[in-house]
Amino acid sequence: MRLDKLLANMGVGSRKDVKALIKKKNVTVNDAVVKDSGLHVDTECDVVKVNNQTINFQQYIYLMMNKPPGYISATTDNRERTVIDLLPKAYQKFKPFPVGRLDKDTEGLLLITNDGELAHQLVSPKKDVDKTYYAKINGTVTDADIQAFRNGLTLADGYHAKPAALEILHADTVSEINITITEGKFHQVKRMFEAVGKKVVYLKRIKMGKLKLDPDLDVGHFRELTKEELALLDVQQS
Ligand code: URA
Repeated sequence: MRLDKLLANMGVGSRKDVKALIKKKNVTVNDAVVKDSGLHVDTECDVVKVNNQTINFQQYIYLMMNKPPGYISATTDNRERTVIDLLPKAYQKFKPFPVGRLDKDTEGLLLITNDGELAHQLVSPKKDVDKTYYAKINGTVTDADIQAFRNGLTLADGYHAKPAALEILHADTVSEINITITEGKFHQVKRMFEAVGKKVVYLKRIKMGKLKLDPDLDVGHFRELTKEELALLDVQQS
């Protein structure tokens, strides 16, 4: 790829900025000062430095966020704050997007990446990827609810939800549960509880596929996935 295009893509600056840096002899390829901004570079083997700093040609980013309430799972919005607004520019330049949607008031595990192929693997309805949520429910969750969820509930709009695994952690006037679903329909967990006459008052995703929310990641914080987590998601690492 052309050096000026590559550096502009990596967020070093506009093509004009990159040309200026090259003119000032601030860019090297394999330690040779570059004179031609149209020089072709091979990102697999060439070492490009700007102001003596090596440019990392990372194509994809993979971030785990503990989504805070009050943010929507979108890349841009005219009125609402989005989860992407929480990322510094250094990450935003990769054009990342959230994988799957959490409601504005839902917290927890959100994978943010620019790897469309991985996102497809995780959200395609055909893949039946497990998603586990911890929730607080207004009302006493019972064994009959477990059975109803296991059988597959019919929601208010007539949609037949696939079987879901409900685990009661604490049954009381406000119950605590974990629920694992394979679908990702709009307000799915909330609507499933409505179908058994109960209301979700707190919802947090704790697992998606094999990826678990890091318990040390504070609400509103994010970090890059570790090598081990990338391996769990079958992401090829170079
Ligand atoms: N189910 C819901 O109702 N809301 C979410 O945010 C995720 C799953």
